[in-house]
Amino acid sequence: IRANMLVDKNFTVSVIDPRVYGSFIEHLGRAVYGGIYEPGHPTADANGFRQDALEAIRSLRVPIIRYPGGNFVSGYNWEDGVGPKSERKRLLELAWWTTETNEVGTNEFADWAKLAGTEVMMAVNLGTRGIDAARNLVEYCNHPSGSYWSDLRISHGYRDPHRFKTWCLGNEMDGPWQIGAKTAVEYGRLANETAKAMRWVDPTIELVACGSSSRSMPTFADWEATVLDLTYDQVDFLSLHAYYNNNENDTPNFLARSMDLDQFIQSVAAICDYVQAKKRSKKKIMLSLDEWNVWNSIGSSRASERWQVAPPEFEDVYTHEDALAVGCFLITILKHADRVKMACIAQLINTIAPIMTETDGPLWLQSTYYPLLHASTFGRGTVLLSNVDAPKYDSKDYTDVPYIETVSVFDEEQGQLTIFAVNRHLEENMEFDIDVRSFGDLRLIEHIVLENNDLKATNTKTAPNRVLPKSGGHTKVDQGRVNAILSRASWNVIRLQ
Ligand code: AHR
Repeated sequence: IRANMLVDKNFTVSVIDPRVYGSFIEHLGRAVYGGIYEPGHPTADANGFRQDALEAIRSLRVPIIRYPGGNFVSGYNWEDGVGPKSERKRLLELAWWTTETNEVGTNEFADWAKLAGTEVMMAVNLGTRGIDAARNLVEYCNHPSGSYWSDLRISHGYRDPHRFKTWCLGNEMDGPWQIGAKTAVEYGRLANETAKAMRWVDPTIELVACGSSSRSMPTFADWEATVLDLTYDQVDFLSLHAYYNNNENDTPNFLARSMDLDQFIQSVAAICDYVQAKKRSKKKIMLSLDEWNVWNSIGSSRASERWQVAPPEFEDVYTHEDALAVGCFLITILKHADRVKMACIAQLINTIAPIMTETDGPLWLQSTYYPLLHASTFGRGTVLLSNVDAPKYDSKDYTDVPYIETVSVFDEEQGQLTIFAVNRHLEENMEFDIDVRSFGDLRLIEHIVLENNDLKATNTKTAPNRVLPKSGGHTKVDQGRVNAILSRASWNVIRLQ
């Protein structure tokens, strides 16, 4: 099969906000305890942070990490996680039915984030708590000194404020599983009043209101419209959460799921614009896709035995086809760079994650680590409009699915053009012709490819290199015309300069 594309350096979608390469670490499973933090591990530093995990995360250049939840935040009293560790409470944690030791809290996470070279996207509890706890937390974290909560932070050993800029107003408050779930009106009113108070403490913060937990929630769309109607002037972002799986083992349909994500983004943007129109506002609400991923174990219940400390949970082992799906989602996010300004793959380590650690043992990387690594490394700059002509297929839930999912990014500073492309055809290689003549004379830096004879191939702790990208895909460039061969079921990064 064959596809064509025209990209012109003068026709752009938007500059990419680096925060689309964000991620998420929740107090869930072994993400915190046993993931980023494992005192006694051979690589742990004096604070218990695993250096091998830090290194793998630094390589991903993750610009922002959402913390501490997730469902966890809706029952979390942040005061339990600060101050002398010896005095911290062991508590029953109701989101995941575990025991929370509170060994890691806000200050430890801030320390860790500095080492990881990332910003923190803090979430406040709007499940069991509200305005008071949230504004106190902003005061504790961001106010320099001279008030009760800021001085308490200083007494805990943190003279300088953390200056967290981005804050989520609760998490998935529409979900019946959420501690303190709310109707759209209940949530919208609470979020608005909480946002006001938080901003009065620190006017420089940015706020994210909860959208629906997923596009399939019965209240989807009405929820967004009502919440925004009640919070419009106080918030900057509306959140989207999107998880996909191939539990039906229908790979053509699974790989087409980026069309669902595309529709989801378009719909939420339309709702934001509807409320903007209604309010005759000059302000545009941006989107924060602050949970997205392939999640095959979704729906499996909480830990079978209650009240364990950090039991392994949702430790999905990702396949080659999962990596292709992640690639398609990354491309879709980039195609909406004008509207999606933050996105967090959920999650980062051990729990539905690209990075896995063995307790007391080594770290290994999942198949999904690689598209993320490539996008975050080479997908910086401006997304270009691309005119693609490709053969299409129909799957169980979608019609007219282009066999290619692709996006082009121009990094003006480096003078580099990068084309990301997934060939969704499971049997045939694709010949891909790209007209890049507007860039003048470009040459090929490399064509990275992730391919595998086995769609179900995985990396595991014992065989960590079964799904690995290689440089050496087949691409020729001649007078502004690129001719690439995209092997069947492959993720490709074509780098030109
Ligand atoms: O990422 C795992 C969970 O998925 C989060 O806690 C929740 O927000 C979502 O339902």
